[in-house]
Amino acid sequence: MSLSQRNLSVLPAAAFPILVILIPASPVQAGSYLLSAHGDSANGVSRTSTAALGYAQGNCAHCHEPHASIQGSEPAPADGSPSSFLLFTTPFTNQSTSLCFDCHVDTGSRQTGGAITNRSYAYRAGGWTSDTLNDVQESFAFTSPGSSHNLSDIQTFIASQSWGYAADANPCVACHNPHAAQGDPENAPNATKSSTTRGWLISRPRQHGGNPWPLWGDDASERMNSYTSAYQAPYRFGSTSTYEPDGSTTQDGANLTDFVTFCTDCHNATNTIYSTNLGRNLRQIDWANEKHGLGSADEYIDMLPPYTAGSGSLGYVLSCLDCHEPHGSSNPYLLRQEVNGGALAGAITTTTGSTFSYLCERCHDNTTNTWQDIHHFTNDSAYARRACSTCHGGYPQDCSRCHYHGAITGSGGVNQTDYSPFNRRTF
Ligand code: HEC
Ligand code: HEC
Ligand code: HEC
Ligand code: HEC
Ligand code: HEC
Ligand code: HEC
Ligand code: HEC
Ligand code: HEC
Repeated sequence: MSLSQRNLSVLPAAAFPILVILIPASPVQAGSYLLSAHGDSANGVSRTSTAALGYAQGNCAHCHEPHASIQGSEPAPADGSPSSFLLFTTPFTNQSTSLCFDCHVDTGSRQTGGAITNRSYAYRAGGWTSDTLNDVQESFAFTSPGSSHNLSDIQTFIASQSWGYAADANPCVACHNPHAAQGDPENAPNATKSSTTRGWLISRPRQHGGNPWPLWGDDASERMNSYTSAYQAPYRFGSTSTYEPDGSTTQDGANLTDFVTFCTDCHNATNTIYSTNLGRNLRQIDWANEKHGLGSADEYIDMLPPYTAGSGSLGYVLSCLDCHEPHGSSNPYLLRQEVNGGALAGAITTTTGSTFSYLCERCHDNTTNTWQDIHHFTNDSAYARRACSTCHGGYPQDCSRCHYHGAITGSGGVNQTDYSPFNRRTF
């Protein structure tokens, strides 16, 4: 079926003319909507109550419901007047209640069938299928020692920018365009990403004002290999021959959304972002200098494959999602439970303890002589072993004292002013 024929079969159903009248400018593009997960006529939106009234699968009316025009079982707009954007319910209430969670939840979903299964990034891209997390509401429900992107903080932050968001915008819409987001893969709840069924899920918040608001990652120029020629894809779970995100042999990020550009629309050296979870403003991070960003290692690095050990001139650049989940995790700081082909040795239980090293040892080689080798013995300009107690209260030390985004050792930095290396970036 051609796109224009599909347009006709989906769009002019009862609610659409009403929407056009009540919502002045319509940046919704029929073409990208029909290719989206929501607009798909076979697998897209279909709310039980509106489906019962005869609205076809994929119809806008499953989300937009002028109060006076559609009966059926509600939720009614809370205050008796239509919700923002004429949505069927308040766009966002709190971390566990929102328009999106009315459908994206594994029990009691308003989508016909009563459930939508969604997975973690470690599952979909990492191929870690033993992760039991199976819906989006759950991915935002982790609390300390786990962590989740705080949706109220995101709502506040995007409203403070000049990106065209309303004060009551749904914070999921900071990162996803509900009129364009695709499945990756679509209609395959328990599948991992595959090179034959790719779709693109996110849109950049900074481009939200655009008409239309495009997807990010769908064009070749929006991939990791366009951001840097120094990306090395981590292994897929249990494999030493296939790579993230889609299990193919591609290693240079040509098949990976440029998540650095995406995340740094918000997390950069200038934005002030408050975190309720952490009870402070986030650190402002200059990714040009970070060693896991564009900056290069200073000395010899002891790496596990697929990274190559050697001198710092290798200059690897990582994707934020090589280490982080985008929504939430049972670990602090949204840190993934599976990284570079294997599960972490255990849960990261505190942000200040040595369980932190479970993350590092997925990529950095500490097998020779625990962390002592890296810090005291290798061809690094490692710490001299003297006056042990200056650094060591016990063994091992708290890694996060010296290793976090933005950390610098020595004078002007945060630690051990009397020990070289001085002024060394340590993350
Ligand atoms: C999955 C639910 C969903 C579906 C399906 C959906 N929308 Fe939306 N729509 C939203 C949300 C959420 C917003 C608010 C976006 C925001 O806060 O910026 C919105 C906003 C809008 C707006 C206001 C302008 C904008 O984009 O912010 C228009 C116009 C619109 N939708 C039209 C449509 C049309 C036409 C269709 C069908 C072709 C449709 N929508 C299908 C959820 C949906
Ligand atoms: C800070 C940005 C951000 C926010 C906020 C966000 N997401 Fe996501 N979401 C992502 C990224 C990044 C991915 C993974 C993209 C990829 O795999 O290419 C993702 C993946 C998804 C997926 C696909 C999961 C699967 O099974 O493949 C769904 C569904 C989703 N998000 C829904 C939501 C909903 C609903 C909300 C609000 C409660 C939300 N997201 C908030 C960034 C975000
Ligand atoms: C739309 C803006 C926005 C985007 C895009 C965004 N974030 Fe955030 N992020 C926030 C806000 C606001 C906070 C503070 C609230 C909180 O702690 O969750 C935050 C907090 C965090 C935290 C600290 C969470 C904690 O509680 O310890 C991490 C880690 C993080 N983001 C990683 C990412 C990654 C990785 C991406 C890209 C996939 C990303 N963010 C994209 C807005 C954003
Ligand atoms: C009326 C029910 C409904 C609502 C409300 C809804 N979705 Fe969806 N969403 C779906 C369905 C159905 C799919 C397709 C699932 C599939 O293909 O397996 C989907 C797919 C997606 C995808 C693509 C990933 C995937 O699972 O295939 C994203 C991203 C997404 N939704 C985000 C959102 C966001 C953000 C909101 C809130 C603004 C939202 N959805 C509201 C029903 C809904
Ligand atoms: C996903 C893989 C991965 C994980 C996980 C990881 N790193 Fe790295 N790290 C790298 C790569 C690759 C480099 C080399 C960067 C370059 O070449 O510029 C690096 C470089 C470094 C450097 C710079 C060394 C030098 O000589 O300048 C430090 C320090 C470092 N990592 C510490 C850590 C710590 C601490 C952790 C755990 C909290 C960690 N890394 C987790 C991949 C990783
Ligand atoms: C007192 C500060 C300090 C503490 C505490 C600390 N480190 Fe480091 N670490 C450093 C410095 C300095 C470097 C060298 C950075 C450079 O070469 O530029 C380094 C380098 C590294 C590297 C890169 C290794 C390489 O091959 O170049 C890793 C990985 C690492 N540390 C892990 C850890 C872990 C895991 C812990 C906790 C068990 C820890 N560190 C505790 C200061 C510290
Ligand atoms: C300038 C700070 C510094 C000084 C001084 C120092 N160390 Fe270390 N040492 C480190 C760092 C950083 C690590 C890596 C993190 C860890 O394992 O505690 C480390 C690791 C070790 C480890 C491995 C611990 C483990 O479980 O992984 C041993 C053993 C060790 N040091 C012994 C010594 C001894 C003995 C002295 C004194 C003769 C000494 N260190 C002085 C910084 C220092
Ligand atoms: C090598 C793994 C790794 C990579 C790659 C990585 N992070 Fe992190 N990130 C961490 C760790 C570990 C922490 C916790 C320590 C800290 O606060 O820096 C963290 C913390 C954060 C925080 C909380 C900062 C605060 O104020 O406490 C944000 C925000 C964040 N990361 C965003 C990003 C973004 C955006 C990217 C990509 C540009 C990224 N991270 C890449 C490992 C990583």
